[in-house]
Amino acid sequence: MNLIGNDRVSLGVCYYPEHWQEADWENDLQRMLASGIETVRIAEFAWNLIEPREGSFDYAFFDRFLDVAEKTGMQVVFCTPTATPPAWLTKKYPEVLNATMEGVVYQHGFRRHYNYNSPKYQELCRRIVGRIAAHYASRPCIVGWQIDNEFNCETAEFYSESDSSAFRNFLKRKYRTLDALNAAWGTVFWNQTYTAWEEVDVPRATPTGRVNPHRRLDFFRFISDSVCRFAKMQSDILRRYVKKGDFITTNGIFGNLDSHRMTEESLDLMMYDSYPNFSYCPALYHEEDPTKDRNWSRHLSEVRSISPHFGVMEQQSGANGSMEMMAPVPKPGQITLWTMQSIAHGADFVSFFRWRTATMGTEMYWHGILDYSGRENRRLAEVRDISQKLKKMEGIAGSSYEAQVAVVRDYDNIWNGQADVWQRDLEQASIWGLFQACQHTHTPFDYVYIDHCSKKTLDQYKVVFCPHLAILTQEQADILRHYAEQGGTLVFGCRTAYKDINGCCVTEPLPGLVGSLAGVDIPEYTAVAPDIGSVTALWGDTSLRTILFNDQLAAADGAEVLAEYQEGYYQGAGALVHHRIGEGETYYFGSVFTAETARVFLEKLGVAEPYSGIISAPQDIETAMRRGEKDGESRRFLFVLNYSGEEQMVMLHRKLRNVYTGSVENGEQTLAGYETRVYEIMG
Ligand code: GAL
Repeated sequence: MNLIGNDRVSLGVCYYPEHWQEADWENDLQRMLASGIETVRIAEFAWNLIEPREGSFDYAFFDRFLDVAEKTGMQVVFCTPTATPPAWLTKKYPEVLNATMEGVVYQHGFRRHYNYNSPKYQELCRRIVGRIAAHYASRPCIVGWQIDNEFNCETAEFYSESDSSAFRNFLKRKYRTLDALNAAWGTVFWNQTYTAWEEVDVPRATPTGRVNPHRRLDFFRFISDSVCRFAKMQSDILRRYVKKGDFITTNGIFGNLDSHRMTEESLDLMMYDSYPNFSYCPALYHEEDPTKDRNWSRHLSEVRSISPHFGVMEQQSGANGSMEMMAPVPKPGQITLWTMQSIAHGADFVSFFRWRTATMGTEMYWHGILDYSGRENRRLAEVRDISQKLKKMEGIAGSSYEAQVAVVRDYDNIWNGQADVWQRDLEQASIWGLFQACQHTHTPFDYVYIDHCSKKTLDQYKVVFCPHLAILTQEQADILRHYAEQGGTLVFGCRTAYKDINGCCVTEPLPGLVGSLAGVDIPEYTAVAPDIGSVTALWGDTSLRTILFNDQLAAADGAEVLAEYQEGYYQGAGALVHHRIGEGETYYFGSVFTAETARVFLEKLGVAEPYSGIISAPQDIETAMRRGEKDGESRRFLFVLNYSGEEQMVMLHRKLRNVYTGSVENGEQTLAGYETRVYEIMG
């Protein structure tokens, strides 16, 4: 059973009753239901319809819509409308608006122009959320609630006056004294010492645009804290009214937000907005990127790390578009492919964006299932076909994505890296390289956020990669040590543990808190200069091309150098050190994990192609397994996804049940361009 109350994956759609004639509603809902769409999401931008003037509430519009939903048997996800404050509100209370770093205040006319910290905005949000919940929550058609819409989309930085004073309060809570803040931010450098709290501000424009990096890191933490509090304020109100069994969620994962914390504090599950067709928009197209829409599997893995069973609130069903961006329509098969991609990665509910394309406004080119006229079309036929497939996929909802490999991330390092290329470039290269290698060797992996991890979390994985945890706390180092000592294989990349929690560099020999765990000492390190490009390291007979950075490693007693750099002034220095510890082992690699290097690690550590006894597939195919249980029996479902427009051949090494057709298949199978299959593993 999933959170939507089904034991199968169900479909929804985003619908905007306010964009259409009331006379169309019933017919629209009937057509949706006939197409297998059982839930609509509504009202996320509709504040004015409920509070057209300050303090004057009118519930009639959505009452009438919910009547139609109940008459037709449609389920509803109702949203709080706080992403788009009304014009009357921002005009009267300009302090609710966000501003640029230079202090230019954003104005009405788009969306997400508010700030989270204005006491006035919080007061008005509390009131509208309370009124909406009190009035609508008992309606039988409502099954869930969405808070706001895409926190931190459009902008993830906040510089209003309310933010400045809230930042000061955040810092007072955190540091208590100015001396502690000055020490944490290293303000003695360049005479930045604060002598009164009023002098402390959100980062402001400077001659180079750069600010004290420790202040910036705390600023990102503060933004995340602000969103989490804002979401909690709303969910606390909703919880007082929502019917038993109705869920609370929000949609999208964006920058400067600890979505794990927000979910733990305020949500029943996280929902994602998945638009893989971005990779085919001419303005964003990268010929050399081999992953394209498949890269959304990486995003979906991020969502899964927040909610192992998540929903997709907005699944692409038409061309992306804005006045600035023209884009292709999903090709036949791609809506199914992207829907199955979401489900393969853990989605238990998929809602398309949107039913009919808007005829006006900023998003009139952002296409939904139907075009402007609402006439029957190929995309709706494909949605109908998806719903038929899902009916046959019973038992998948609530099942879990299988992975033996984990890649460790954490928010402090992501935020630290935003302004620090000594971390960011390495991290991005490795995240990308590991993803590609895992995809191309059909090796499912999970992201694990170490700042939301207990000692037990890592136990389920055979191999755990820690690409470049520059900032590492003692508690986190202990989690990693525990995992290795219990029998795990831990793989570090360069530049590990060289910073403390404030983002200041440590004075211990590198790699700081993991030196004894990894059996490594790093007497010297260097970025790889562009004139050199890469330095070869030899691991047995395998040569690794190391790029961007080289930690030059020495092995401590009991550890062993497995690979040495082959060129340049540090020829012969260690590039890879292996250390046995307890029941397990660590590898410290002195560089980044490119796709080629990551592949070598996956293969040498014996975790590549975990399903090779079941299926052999070419690179263009992604495979994923969901494992569930029905009536005490374990059931496994293998997803086979063809991202290319060309036919692809896969080889089944045993009999598998094709869930879509019910037939048993074995041996060579040809998948058409963009075709997907779901197989149940028998026996
Ligand atoms: C999402 C957003 C929707 C719509 C959609 C298409 O980011 O939640 O409201 O804007 O993208 O642009």
